[in-house]
Amino acid sequence: MYFAPALAFALQLSVGWAASISVQTTSGLLQGSQTNGLSTFKGIRFGQSPTGSLRWEPPVAFTSTASQNATTFGPACVQQFPFAGAAINEKIFNTPPVPESEDCLFLNVWAPTSTTPTPVLIWIYGGALTFGTAATPEYDGSSLAASQNITVVSFNYRTNVFGFPTAPDLPTVGNNLELAFQWVQTNIAKFGADPKQVTIMGQSAGARSVASAYASHAPGTAPFRAAIMLSAAVESRSPTPNFAAFNAMATALGCTQAPGAARLACLKNVSATTIRAYTNGASSGTWTSMVDNVTVFSDPIQRIRNKQTAGVPFIIGNAQDDGSLFAINQNNLSIYLTATFGTLVTPAQVRALYTSGLSDNLVISEVVKDFVFLCPAELWGAAAVGAGQPNVYRYAYGASFANMQPFVGAGAWHSSDLFEIFGTYNRTGATTAEATLSSTMQTIYGNFVKDPTTPPAPHWAKYVPGKTTTTLAKLAYNGNVALSNVVQAAESNSLDSPCDTLWNKFLDVRE
Ligand SMILES: *[C@@H]1O[C@H](CO)[C@@H](O)[C@H](O)[C@H]1NC(C)=O
Ligand SMILES: *[C@@H]1O[C@H](CO)[C@@H](O)[C@H](O)[C@H]1NC(C)=O
Ligand SMILES: *[C@@H]1O[C@H](CO)[C@@H](O)[C@H](O)[C@H]1NC(C)=O
Ligand SMILES: *[C@@H]1O[C@H](CO)[C@@H](O)[C@H](O)[C@H]1NC(C)=O
Ligand SMILES: *[C@@H]1O[C@H](CO)[C@@H](O)[C@H](O)[C@H]1NC(C)=O
Ligand SMILES: *[C@@H]1O[C@H](CO)[C@@H](O)[C@H](O)[C@H]1NC(C)=O
Repeated sequence: MYFAPALAFALQLSVGWAASISVQTTSGLLQGSQTNGLSTFKGIRFGQSPTGSLRWEPPVAFTSTASQNATTFGPACVQQFPFAGAAINEKIFNTPPVPESEDCLFLNVWAPTSTTPTPVLIWIYGGALTFGTAATPEYDGSSLAASQNITVVSFNYRTNVFGFPTAPDLPTVGNNLELAFQWVQTNIAKFGADPKQVTIMGQSAGARSVASAYASHAPGTAPFRAAIMLSAAVESRSPTPNFAAFNAMATALGCTQAPGAARLACLKNVSATTIRAYTNGASSGTWTSMVDNVTVFSDPIQRIRNKQTAGVPFIIGNAQDDGSLFAINQNNLSIYLTATFGTLVTPAQVRALYTSGLSDNLVISEVVKDFVFLCPAELWGAAAVGAGQPNVYRYAYGASFANMQPFVGAGAWHSSDLFEIFGTYNRTGATTAEATLSSTMQTIYGNFVKDPTTPPAPHWAKYVPGKTTTTLAKLAYNGNVALSNVVQAAESNSLDSPCDTLWNKFLDVRE
């Protein structure tokens, strides 16, 4: 916390070691807690309850002058667990289940005590835009904030049909969310942090949201100065929305009017519980963001090349086994490819891209890792460097620990790096190497938040695509976990050959 004289602060000792602390914000006079120089505020309401007439509408700022307790997380937004991977996703990301409510627009702040304003990291969780909450213990910001002397903010955004309805009944512009970024700009100085030094970081669908924010803000207009995309970026996509899932839901819920105001009124009148039962049932579709040409564009990579984006420094990369979670129970390459690509690619064509003799399951895991996670990182890095952005840092994360394997064959699985970054890894059975790596990862991301124009770790050069440079940081491969050796500098396109040979032509409109 920054003790600015102009700000109304009250610090009172309460029982034991935690003190109560209050901060005046546009959300009210917040009562948080302070321990060992770290102030924690949880469950800060930043958006009005998005229920009733506000369901599916852009979020509306919540303002208050009243006193608010800010000591427990707000409820998660309504969750949808995708059907094929429901059990494992619930086990990893929702155990024990967090209370849910449609009234869920809350954020959390962890702020270290400091005599000068600290830089800010805003965290955006993943979950395919269908599930996720800032209250997940894995994403607790206290260790990262305290160890790095940075302010960490996490927030809830509406997921699945509640946040990404893709509905013909709604205006195409304004379906999406940027209210939390605005709250940080308005209020974070009151916590002793600097709104001009904001980095946004997301993983998986959260990284896609970071990428969309990056691509949608024109140069000089972004409410952040740097970005971190962990295991995902946004590819080129069709500008044509697919309304099928919303239309099917409307019919199933008895709102049989033609798309438009009357049907929307009918659907806004259905209880969230009824909608949740439908979206978690077998006949539901899934929802995703839609191209509105305001917050989401169909051609983000081309926008980077055209210098139409935020253009700020970024870290981008993927985990070595990003595909393993998605390949669970997928043992037939031919069936997988037909379901995913129709007739566009053949099993023989795909097998030729990878080490011969891999099982179908392992080939599928490689395909998911490349197509969904690694190739978009290659394309984004190359586009940004080509457009003259000097501070692009690319990684591949390779650490795998025996006590962090939630399923057989997980490896360096999708999300495994987050436990190290947040310092929330499994303490039971943790090795010294795991503790060291967590500290190293925190230092790397802390360094970048403090100064995104300097390489965040030794031997990590600014990214230059191609065969003649070693600017791809292989992180924590071969048991290298100390800050001095965590980066193994590799030929910058050493992992990209399946992308260059095949996948990029589906991911980049220019290819
Ligand atoms: C905050 O919590 C305290 C302790 O639980 C309670 O006494 C107080 O009434 C609460 N204040 C508000 C504004 O809810
Ligand atoms: C924390 O960061 C602030 C702002 O950058 C700096 O002034 C302060 O010295 C730092 N505190 C510690 C303990 O490093
Ligand atoms: C909302 O539901 C109530 C009963 O549940 C019904 O009386 C009312 O007509 C509904 N309104 C709309 C706009 O469908
Ligand atoms: C967005 O722009 C694309 C390409 O210019 C266009 O095809 C599409 O209709 C636009 N979408 C909206 C919602 O304006
Ligand atoms: C994969 O599925 C195809 C199409 O159903 C089938 O012809 C083939 O035998 C299956 N391969 C294996 C290894 O089971
Ligand atoms: C933590 O590690 C222990 C020991 O390997 C293991 O039994 C337990 O399942 C792990 N817990 C989680 C949540 O992964």
